[in-house]
Amino acid sequence: MQPKSNIVHLPVYQPGKPVEDVKRELGLQEVIKLASNENPFGCSEHVKAAIIEEIGNSNIYPDGASVELTAALAEELGVEPNQIIFGTGSSEIILMINRAFIVPGDETIMADETFPQYKHNAEIENASIVEVPLKEGKHDLPAMLAKVNSKTKIIWICNPNNPTGTIVTLPELTAFLKEVPSHVLVVLDEAYGEYVDDPQFPDGVQLLREHRNLIVLRTFSKIYGLAALRIGYGVGHPDVIRFTNQVREPFNTSRIAQAAAKSALADKAFISYCCDQNKQGINYLSEQFDRLGLSYFPANGNFVMVDVKRSSPEVFDGLLRRGIISRPRWTYYPNHIRITVGTREQNEKFIAALEQALQEAAVQG
Ligand SMILES: Cc1ncc(COP(=O)(O)O)c(C=O)c1O
Repeated sequence: MQPKSNIVHLPVYQPGKPVEDVKRELGLQEVIKLASNENPFGCSEHVKAAIIEEIGNSNIYPDGASVELTAALAEELGVEPNQIIFGTGSSEIILMINRAFIVPGDETIMADETFPQYKHNAEIENASIVEVPLKEGKHDLPAMLAKVNSKTKIIWICNPNNPTGTIVTLPELTAFLKEVPSHVLVVLDEAYGEYVDDPQFPDGVQLLREHRNLIVLRTFSKIYGLAALRIGYGVGHPDVIRFTNQVREPFNTSRIAQAAAKSALADKAFISYCCDQNKQGINYLSEQFDRLGLSYFPANGNFVMVDVKRSSPEVFDGLLRRGIISRPRWTYYPNHIRITVGTREQNEKFIAALEQALQEAAVQG
């Protein structure tokens, strides 16, 4: 039995370490996971009620086309329903785009480092991966453009970028899109877009009218606090959405996820509360990193990439022993950890643990 030769070398996705594993392994009572950019404030109370109400329909297949949710979202975004597709998280939209558009030998361009699922799914489809190093943690759009040729099929832009948190601005993005040839699909991943308050941050959906070769990805996993329910979406030209829909599994998103997402869209107060708390959290962490003499990338999402000035696995271990799960081991940033912005209390516990871990590392030297 032989699998496809191009998947043999692929790693199995390594998620952030689960809280229960860390508690058990280290005998800790309290463990704070700041490794997967989840929402520390949970989800809206209205959403919880919608979930409970929908549970009674669990014996019935979901609406594969998510008609009600699509209508609600289309109205909110000011687009037509045929411009929207839902997936089990935006991860599934990434998978479907690769499945629908890539044939072996196509080239696909992405930043290095960025969200790993673009590359992972492109490799499954046997694409040729063209990775363009970040410049000071930001997408280098001119360098990405310079890599475009007749074989290029998809360009991926993660805005804000995971893991650095940097953004591509509206002028940068519009200048770039103007130059991208029409045979190339541009995927703009805005998983953390709702958190951004920089006035230069582009709203990808507003750019769709002018760019038929653009698809914008968003998710309910981050600011909406629904990571466990697995629902995200893509918005684009009806042709792009139709092709992507043609490779979608019939009943991909669940009834409960659809009901939760519809209710989540309506609770604007929850979103603005989370944005506000996240901003305060970024300010607090930035002040503390300044005090500790640590540099960090300007944070625009709900996470901060900080230079801990020593090998990140060492600091990760020091934090873990103190009950904090972070994300170490970045190819281009061996001394950085990525930390999710938590609640005020979690952020304070993280900073106390970081100070101790850094002191311990300095003594061990
Ligand atoms: C940049 C980015 N895009 C997409 C995703 C996928 O999220 P989900 O599949 O939960 O919607 C993530 C998750 O961490 C992410 O960081």
